[in-house]
Amino acid sequence: MFDPDRLIIFDTTLRDGEQSPGASMTKDEKVRIARQLERLRVDVIEAGFAAASPGDFEAIRAIAASVRDSTICSLSRANDRDIARAAEALQPAARKRIHTFIATSPLHMQMKLRMEPEQVLEQAKLAVRYARNHTDDIEFSPEDGSRSEEDFLCRVLEGVIAEGATTINFPDTVGYATPEVFGATIRRLRERVPNSDKAIWSVHCHNDLGLAVANSLAGVAIGGARQIECTINGLGERAGNTALEEVVMALRTRADYYKLTVGIDTTQIVPASKMVSQITGFAVQPNKAVVGANAFAHASGIHQDGILKARETYEIMRAEDVGWHANKIVLGKLSGRNAFKARLQELGIEMESEGEVNAAFARFKELADRKSEIFDEDILALVSAEEHASGGEYFRFISLAQRSETGALPHARVVFAIDGQEYACEGSGDGPVDATVNAIESQARTGADLILFSINAISNGTESQGEVTMRLSRQGRIVNGVGADPDIVVASAKAYLSGLNKLHSKVERAHPQL
Ligand code: KIV
Ligand code: ZN
Repeated sequence: MFDPDRLIIFDTTLRDGEQSPGASMTKDEKVRIARQLERLRVDVIEAGFAAASPGDFEAIRAIAASVRDSTICSLSRANDRDIARAAEALQPAARKRIHTFIATSPLHMQMKLRMEPEQVLEQAKLAVRYARNHTDDIEFSPEDGSRSEEDFLCRVLEGVIAEGATTINFPDTVGYATPEVFGATIRRLRERVPNSDKAIWSVHCHNDLGLAVANSLAGVAIGGARQIECTINGLGERAGNTALEEVVMALRTRADYYKLTVGIDTTQIVPASKMVSQITGFAVQPNKAVVGANAFAHASGIHQDGILKARETYEIMRAEDVGWHANKIVLGKLSGRNAFKARLQELGIEMESEGEVNAAFARFKELADRKSEIFDEDILALVSAEEHASGGEYFRFISLAQRSETGALPHARVVFAIDGQEYACEGSGDGPVDATVNAIESQARTGADLILFSINAISNGTESQGEVTMRLSRQGRIVNGVGADPDIVVASAKAYLSGLNKLHSKVERAHPQL
């Protein structure tokens, strides 16, 4: 039953989020994120674009089979082949949605689709009619909606609702909209489309001007939309999508104004943010709202004093309500396998076999030998490393010796395996990381370009593990390699090799909006 006071949260981290350069994820990683989204109580999970690649198809199918509480959705272009593929991937889902789209702006119709408006209108209607054979939960998006002509939009939207579309999603595909105009457009469309009350209206905003959250909220408050499409950490194409954590906490903190409820369990927000960041290698900026490391940190004396006297003086949300908790020391080198397994369960990490638990426990012991206190963040990094490795380790790190001294050229000796064959390679460079990458490349000769390099401390203190992301590009493909270790040069070597493994795996993915 449609409840006008409840807002539907539609998460597209696994589809639009994954379109971010370098953010591609393996099937197992996607299933892990989908389970976390289910714990977060997201209403709809857009699990991918089934027709884009066999990998996307399999991931949607696996998610459809393992998630029970959220509706699972696949994107599809407005053609029978894509829609049939989406339906097939969604077959095991308890609740399924097909999301079909076609561009409606003059620019996209002429330059990209090379279609006349009348053809686009017919194709949109046919697609929805065909999709209705597979499920009665159909979402339709007029791509580049915010740059489309309103009269034409009204005809298309009326047509697809008449064919049975149950959700109309209005996208600001290129992040061009401004809040007041965007909200007013949706309100006018709802007033002008005669059967608009037969569908739930939704917003889908990109962040090119930093307005995605503001536009989404205006679409709700001014336009009357009752679904927001968003991603964890605002991941997504170019500058990203609407950030789930920001819209949800705005709706909740300012419930006095929005007067809407959402079904989200907000205490799962920070765990979801950390998981997505660790899996994709996209670090969260410290001053990011809600999930940034500084979001609840008070540095100035006046603020600290105020907070100690009454928290509300400078805090509008409670850190624990969004899932922040003190960095607890959870385990150490004397902890046994049962304690480790119990902690994995508390963190919501489900391992498929005892063999997997054993492998993760062996890595934990290895880490505990080198690091006295193991935090939840360390365990999450360790499991991520395990999953990166399970994707197949064509390149495998073994050991590293490195020398750097003021005034001398840094030098590294890296032992690693390529397809099971061990090599010991030496290299020098401008710094220890440069020397390490040069040592690896002296043998691997991959020709990959390093286009981003970042290091993050996983927990607090100098004893923290460093988590390194290296974004590599080769022949138009961009991947993120991630590595963690208490030694940041070792973490860098692992990140570089993990990136090479991703480049090596040939799974290609079509761009859904082509
Ligand atoms: O940004 C966009 O237009 C999209 C559509 C497919 C909804 O992602
Ligand atoms: Zn989008």
